[in-house]
Amino acid sequence: MTKSVIAIDGPAGAGKSTISKMVAKQLKYIYIDTGAMYRAVAWRVLQEYKPPISTKQIIASVQDIDIKLSYDDNQNLQVETNGTNVTTEIRTPQVTALVSQVAAVGQVREKMVELQRNMAKQGKILMDGRDIGTCVLPNADLKIYLTASADERANRRAKQMAQKGYNIDVEKIKADIIARDEADMNREISPLKKADDAILLDTTDMTIDEVLKTIIKMVQD
Ligand code: DC
Repeated sequence: MTKSVIAIDGPAGAGKSTISKMVAKQLKYIYIDTGAMYRAVAWRVLQEYKPPISTKQIIASVQDIDIKLSYDDNQNLQVETNGTNVTTEIRTPQVTALVSQVAAVGQVREKMVELQRNMAKQGKILMDGRDIGTCVLPNADLKIYLTASADERANRRAKQMAQKGYNIDVEKIKADIIARDEADMNREISPLKKADDAILLDTTDMTIDEVLKTIIKMVQD
């Protein structure tokens, strides 16, 4: 049986997007980064309102939002919100600080899940996020829960941020990651959780190449 629909969930900084991108490329599947979609909502909220942001403001911003995911010539994900390319803007610390609050709002999740299920209809897709195996695609052909220790995840995120030219403080990044895990795991609607039928993959002591090979084998077995 071909595993046409793959769901990868896990906490912040576990390497989901790096790995998902590589797996999708190798298999020639479409990669759908659902975190980018929640980030796009948070970006729009910040365009329209000044922090502290209320739930009412988040709901107002998401009403007529239109999010498009596409790929440039180098296979890099491009994110468009109502016609504006926000690929770079959705990775700023301001957006990261707001995104868990935005992702906890029911109306936001309803809208994103609907968009995500539509994108998955075409098959040969790999979708990553927090609730893909548990909520968005409960019938996925393969579900993986990718995780790593908080220290390792903070180190990986720090490296990524440094490469992008941000001044980094690993302890602060670790504290932010733990706070985001808490918020994502304890929210009422679709919290981050391993689906019962997901395969747990702890990548703390694995190289990217090892993780890649392990997942490709899971798809092909
Ligand atoms: O994967 P990421 O760090 O880009 O995700 C950003 C936030 O979006 C994360 O803190 C939780 C939220 N998210 C979610 O609630 N559900 C998803 N399917 C994907 C992301």
